[in-house]
Amino acid sequence: MYLTPEEEKMEAGEYGTAVQKAMEIIIALGEIYNAERLVDITSAQISGVSFKTIGDAGLEFLVDMAIDARVIVPSTLNPAGIDLERNDLGFSKEFTEKQLKIIDAYRKMDITTTCTCTPYLVGNVPVKGDHVAWSESSAVAYVNSVIGAKTNREGGPGALSAAICGKTAEYGFHLDENRKANLIVDVEDEIKGVDYGAIGYLVGKAVGDGVPYFKFKNRSSVNDLKSLGAALASSGAVALYHVENLTPEYKEALQGLDINDLEQISVDRADIDKTRRKLSTSTEKPDLICLGCPHSSIEEIKTIAEKLEGKRLKNQLWVCTSIPVKATADRMGYTEIIEKAGGKLVCDTCMVVAPIEELGFQVIGVDSAKAANYVPSMCGLDVVFDDLQNLLDFETPETKLTKNGVIRAFKNL
Ligand code: F3S
Repeated sequence: MYLTPEEEKMEAGEYGTAVQKAMEIIIALGEIYNAERLVDITSAQISGVSFKTIGDAGLEFLVDMAIDARVIVPSTLNPAGIDLERNDLGFSKEFTEKQLKIIDAYRKMDITTTCTCTPYLVGNVPVKGDHVAWSESSAVAYVNSVIGAKTNREGGPGALSAAICGKTAEYGFHLDENRKANLIVDVEDEIKGVDYGAIGYLVGKAVGDGVPYFKFKNRSSVNDLKSLGAALASSGAVALYHVENLTPEYKEALQGLDINDLEQISVDRADIDKTRRKLSTSTEKPDLICLGCPHSSIEEIKTIAEKLEGKRLKNQLWVCTSIPVKATADRMGYTEIIEKAGGKLVCDTCMVVAPIEELGFQVIGVDSAKAANYVPSMCGLDVVFDDLQNLLDFETPETKLTKNGVIRAFKNL
């Protein structure tokens, strides 16, 4: 693989051992995937943050790296295993202490500690054509597909190394020829809400690590596309998809291809409903509802607040989001409405990477196909996958009879 004189100096250790170690990882990845050279990146998004997923070995690696490693491009973190600010969720002292050490190591490396899988909603926003090194699979699908920046599905160490060197190896989705569609998905009915997750789950299984090209009957929002990409990336290994007349590379996706050579599938309402049913592992009422996979946007929190206003929930509710989005929700009064109804705005973490299995819950209600796919395997708990409206369960308000009401009630006897 060709290295510039500057890159050779980095590899030789002239910029310190952390840069040297990071460069070795990038070069090794480049050699595995036959990259011809390195490219400069403009941002990184780094996974491997929750103590639940990286354990003591990961913690030791990060503490060691933090001695002299510093990132040189804007970089943010994936969700951690706890909310870094609220301490009423019930996580153990030992887990919390180890998690805080991990965050501290990343902070020492100059990585912005907004722990979120939706960095594109809170300031880590590349432009079309930028090379980046992102590792959370749903964020990778979003940044490639909806923004049109270029990244592979990096592992945590790969993304961290790229952030330290400001470079990554040029292979896979960094090359335009690999960004073409190889499956056309014709969605025959109008869709909304959790339908996007169900379609993503269904198509992800069919396409694996391919590049699907969707034809939808209706226009999709940012929130729809983040659900779609998260599901595609969890049941399959999709890093890039295109939506006709919507995403920035949909024209290039088919350029130079004979459409008749591409595999084509149709998805109708029956397929979607069947997948929706399949994603639930239980018919019990959930004892915890977890929303925000990927992390909630301010519009999604507004919708939740509107449904909860003036009501009281029977089951517990977590709305997972990032610290900057919560700050906006606080200012708009949404947090107060949700907390008055008995819910919690939970930041920096989520239902999959937090150790919720240690908190005594049995059945988790989710409106995310990705969460429905991972909660049983990562947490060992049952899930109910449904629309927000169907998941919420409210207490019936007590009937308070006024003096006149009591008199009328007696008269009616
Ligand atoms: Fe984000 Fe956790 Fe879902 S990291 S995409 S909320 S599983």
